[in-house]
Amino acid sequence: MRILIYLFIIWSSLRTLAAASNLTVAVEGVASETVSTAVWPTMSPQMTVAFRSQRDVMGNLTIDQLPYVGLNLRRVLLNNETNMVNDGNNTRLFTMFKSMLGSEANAFVLDLEQHNNELTVPDSTLLFSDLLTELQSFIFSTQNNLYANVIVLLLNISAPALTSTERGYQNETLNTTLILDKNLGSTFIYKPMDLQSDRSKGNAWNIYGKSSSDGWPTLGSVLYEQKKRLVIGELTDIFNETTAPYIFPKDVFHYEQGNATLDCPSSVDGLANLSSIHWRFLDSRFNSADIKEYISCGVSPIISNPSYINNVTQLADIIHEGSVWSWDVNQPSVTSSTSKSGDLSDTLEAYNCVLFHYFANNGTATWRVDNCYDSNVGLCRYENRAFKWLVRSNKATYFDFDNYQGSKCPDQYTFNIPRTPLEQRSLIFYLRNASFPDTKIWIDLNSISVSNCWVSGGPYASCPYEKVISRRNFVTMMVPASVCSFALLFIVVYLSVLRVPIYDNRKNWRRVINKISKSELEGVPS
Ligand SMILES: *[C@@H]1O[C@H](CO)[C@@H](O)[C@H](O)[C@H]1NC(C)=O
Ligand SMILES: *[C@@H]1O[C@H](CO)[C@@H](O)[C@H](O)[C@H]1NC(C)=O
Ligand SMILES: *[C@@H]1O[C@H](CO)[C@@H](O)[C@H](O)[C@H]1NC(C)=O
Ligand SMILES: *[C@@H]1O[C@H](CO)[C@@H](O)[C@H](O)[C@H]1NC(C)=O
Ligand SMILES: *[C@@H]1O[C@H](CO)[C@@H](O)[C@H](O)[C@H]1NC(C)=O
Ligand SMILES: *[C@@H]1O[C@H](CO)[C@@H](O)[C@H](O)[C@H]1NC(C)=O
Ligand SMILES: *[C@@H]1O[C@H](CO)[C@@H](O)[C@H](O)[C@H]1NC(C)=O
Ligand SMILES: *[C@@H]1O[C@H](CO)[C@@H](O)[C@H](O)[C@H]1NC(C)=O
Ligand SMILES: *[C@@H]1O[C@H](CO)[C@@H](O)[C@H](O)[C@H]1NC(C)=O
Ligand SMILES: *[C@@H]1O[C@H](CO)[C@@H](O)[C@H](O)[C@H]1NC(C)=O
Ligand SMILES: *[C@@H]1O[C@H](CO)[C@@H](O)[C@H](O)[C@H]1NC(C)=O
Ligand SMILES: *[C@@H]1O[C@H](CO)[C@@H](O)[C@H](O)[C@H]1NC(C)=O
Repeated sequence: MRILIYLFIIWSSLRTLAAASNLTVAVEGVASETVSTAVWPTMSPQMTVAFRSQRDVMGNLTIDQLPYVGLNLRRVLLNNETNMVNDGNNTRLFTMFKSMLGSEANAFVLDLEQHNNELTVPDSTLLFSDLLTELQSFIFSTQNNLYANVIVLLLNISAPALTSTERGYQNETLNTTLILDKNLGSTFIYKPMDLQSDRSKGNAWNIYGKSSSDGWPTLGSVLYEQKKRLVIGELTDIFNETTAPYIFPKDVFHYEQGNATLDCPSSVDGLANLSSIHWRFLDSRFNSADIKEYISCGVSPIISNPSYINNVTQLADIIHEGSVWSWDVNQPSVTSSTSKSGDLSDTLEAYNCVLFHYFANNGTATWRVDNCYDSNVGLCRYENRAFKWLVRSNKATYFDFDNYQGSKCPDQYTFNIPRTPLEQRSLIFYLRNASFPDTKIWIDLNSISVSNCWVSGGPYASCPYEKVISRRNFVTMMVPASVCSFALLFIVVYLSVLRVPIYDNRKNWRRVINKISKSELEGVPS
C-alpha cells in the first residue's frame, strides 16, 4: 500500500514539474512576489505561513462569515493631521496605503466625497481612482494561490453640503462603474451581479444550513474559480443598483461603530443565531488584547484608533494579534523531522501535525505543531455541522487516528478542525460542558506531504498548490507556487519518505525510492 503512496508522490512531483516548465512566467511570478512594504513591517515567513494556513482552512466557508481585520482609513491615515492638503505630494500616502495592503489587514473603510464626476478623499487632493490604482497593483502582484486573499472595501460617501432639493451631489456624470473599470478592472470585483448568478445556480451554499437564496459563495470559489479579489460595499445610501452596479448596498453589511450591540454568544444556540448575520463589522478603537476577544466572538474589527502617517505603523501589533486567531505565538514552528541515528525504531519524530491545546482554567485554546507519532485524542465533527463536536477518548498517533482506511471517529463523524473563530468557540463550549481537563487534541491539519504547506484531509492529503496547478487554466496564475512545491516535493522524495510513515523495511524503501528518484529525475533542470 505504501509503495503506491510514494509512487504517487513521485508521480505528482513530476507532474508539477511539467506544469512549471513555462520559465518566462516563473521568472515574472517570482519577481512580482516581492511586495514592497518599505513602511509597514513585512510579515515574517512564519507569519505568512500561519496566515496562509488559516486562509486555506477557511476555504470552504462563505466569505460573509470569515474574520476580517480592517482599518478605517480616515481615522488612521487619511486625516489632515499631517497637512495632507498643503503638502500636495501624496507619494508617501500611496506608499503607506500600498504597504497596508501587504499587511494582514484585509478590510478598508474609505471616506469619499463626490465632486462632479470624481470621488475624492475629503480634505485632500487624493482621488479615489489613484487609490484604486494602488489596489490594482497590489492585486496583480498577489494574484496567485499563495498570496491571494479577499479584500473588502467599504465606502462612506458624503455629499457636498447642498440641500436635497438641489440634488447637486447626484451629478449625473459620476459613473462609479467607469472609475472602477478604468483604474481597477472589473474582473477582480465580486459584484452584486455575480452574487445573483451564484445564488441562482445554487452555488452559494453555506455550512450553517441556510438556503442558497440568501447564501454567499465560499472563499475557495471566489478566489480560485471566479478569481475575484474584492468586495466593494457602500455604508451610506447614495448609490443604487443602477448608479453603482459593482457596489453592494448598505443593508448587506452589519456595520456598527463604537460599542458592539451584538452579544458575544455564550451557547451553541447563540452561535448559530449570530452566524445567520452576514458580514459583521465593528468599527471602534481596539488594543492587542481586546481585538482577540472580538474576533473570537465572531466580529470583524475595523480599527479606528486615531493615528496618522507618522505613527500609523504602531497599529501593526494590534492587526497582527487580530489576524491570527488559531496558531499560538511563534507557531507553526518549523521543526524538521529528525530521527536519532542508530535507534530508529523507537524515536520516530515528525513535527508535522497540529494539536489543539485546550486550557480548562481560562477556557482558551491554541494550535501548536507536534510530533505526529505521539499518541493523542482526536477531534471529530458531526456530518457537515459547524458546531457539533466529539473528542474520541482513545489515544492514537496521527497516522493511526486517521488514514485512507477511515478515521477513529464514529459513524457520521469525520476527523476535523475548527475553521473559524466561532467554530473554535463552539469547540471550547463543548470541552467545557463535558468538563475536559487541559487536553491536547489532534486536529485535521498537517504538513506531512510538503513542509510549510498545511493541509486538511488526513495524513495523506497533498498540498493544494500542487493540485490547483494541474488544472490547465491555472497554470499561468499558479506557477510561482508550483516551482516551490516542486522543490519541496523533491525534498519529500529524498527525506521525508525515509522518516515519516515507515515502520518496516526502511532500508529497502530507501533503496527503492533512491533508485526511482535517480532514474526518473535525472536530467531535470534545477
Ligand atoms: C508561457 O506563458 C506565456 C505567457 O503567459 C504564454 O504566452 C506562452 O504561450 C506560455 N508557453 C507555454 C509553452 O505554455
Ligand atoms: C470542502 O467541501 C467539499 C465539498 O463538501 C469537500 O469535498 C472538501 O473536502 C472540503 N474541503 C475541506 C478542506 O474541508
Ligand atoms: C514627493 O515626495 C517624495 C518623497 O517623499 C519625493 O521623492 C518626490 O519627488 C516628491 N514629488 C513631488 C512631485 O514633489
Ligand atoms: C456636474 O459635472 C459637470 C462635469 O463634470 C460639471 O460641469 C457640473 O458643474 C456638475 N454639476 C454640479 C451640480 O456639480
Ligand atoms: C481638517 O480640514 C478641515 C477642512 O479643510 C478643517 O475644518 C478641520 O479643522 C481640519 N482638521 C484638523 C484636525 O486639522
Ligand atoms: C462616514 O462619514 C461621516 C461624515 O464624514 C462620518 O460622520 C461617519 O462617522 C463616517 N462613517 C464611518 C463608518 O467612518
Ligand atoms: C458608465 O461607464 C460604463 C463603462 O465603464 C458604461 O458602460 C456605462 O454605460 C456608463 N453608465 C452611465 C450611466 O453612463
Ligand atoms: C437610482 O438612482 C437614480 C438617481 O437618483 C434614480 O434616477 C433611479 O431611479 C434609481 N434607481 C432605482 C432602481 O432606485
Ligand atoms: C460605550 O460604552 C462605554 C462604557 O459602557 C460608554 O462609556 C460609552 O459612552 C459608550 N459609547 C457609545 C458611543 O455608546
Ligand atoms: C436564537 O434565535 C431564536 C429565534 O430567533 C431565539 O428564539 C433564541 O432565543 C435565540 N437564542 C439565543 C441564545 O440568542
Ligand atoms: C499618533 O499620534 C497622535 C498625535 O500625536 C496621537 O494622538 C495618537 O494616539 C497616536 N497614535 C498611535 C497609534 O500611536
Ligand atoms: C490560559 O492558560 C494557559 C495555561 O494555564 C496559559 O498558557 C495561557 O496563556 C492562558 N491564556 C490566556 C488568554 O490567558
